[in-house]
Amino acid sequence: MAEPDFLTRTRAAYDTITEPYTEWIAAELAARPLDRAVLGGFAELVTAADAGPVVEIGCGPGRITAHLNGLGLAVSGIDLAPRMVARARQDHPHLRFAEGSMLGLDLADGALGGLVAWYSIIHVPDERLPDVFAEFHRVLAPGGYAQLAFAVGDEVVHRDELGGHPVSLDFHPRRPERVADLLRAAGLQPRAQVVREPDTDGDYPEQAPQAFLLARKPLGTGRRRPE
Ligand SMILES: C[S@@+](CC[C@H](N)C(=O)[O-])C[C@H]1O[C@@H](n2cnc3c(N)ncnc32)[C@H](O)[C@@H]1O
Repeated sequence: MAEPDFLTRTRAAYDTITEPYTEWIAAELAARPLDRAVLGGFAELVTAADAGPVVEIGCGPGRITAHLNGLGLAVSGIDLAPRMVARARQDHPHLRFAEGSMLGLDLADGALGGLVAWYSIIHVPDERLPDVFAEFHRVLAPGGYAQLAFAVGDEVVHRDELGGHPVSLDFHPRRPERVADLLRAAGLQPRAQVVREPDTDGDYPEQAPQAFLLARKPLGTGRRRPE
């Protein structure tokens, strides 16, 4: 079956902007203490659940993957864009990165104790989000956690240019309540919904509030990971 157009365009866009994006975003997490707090809470919960390794899905150059590894998690990264994967491997040679799409992950059922989609579902159109969340549910072990980050909003933003580079890329800001409903429909239990106001000063000014949703795959009955 032919690949959906949005995936082809998203891959091409991130391949085009790999180097400038990587340089630009490098110091971002250091400037966002509340975002680090979200990742810290995720790391503690995943460690306590002890349900398996973690994958950052849509990892780009791997800065969040590396941060999670620094928090003690066994973590690797997956990204749609081959140049992003190459850059992640170059910058973080001690970690594993692979090409792949969140619409069809090359991971076994129940393989993960946690997954992070940090500003990566923002490139998936609404009608495909249920497929993505079904895939997240499939690859998580019972008791595993999914941590999402995305901008809050209602209107799709199309960009033909980023940093002077020609691209064709759609950004999908969303209402957290709607995303939580879709997670629930996929069998994942929302555990926390953090919305922070946009940072309007500093090196990384934002236009919109930012949402951080944590969901958990239910433990079920008698389905704990074997010792
Ligand atoms: C805004 S960047 C965020 C990268 C990284 N999470 C970070 O915070 O630096 C979005 C990333 O998601 C990846 N991506 C977009 N759609 C994807 C998909 N369907 N499957 C896997 N990765 C995807 C892009 O290639 C890009 O590297």
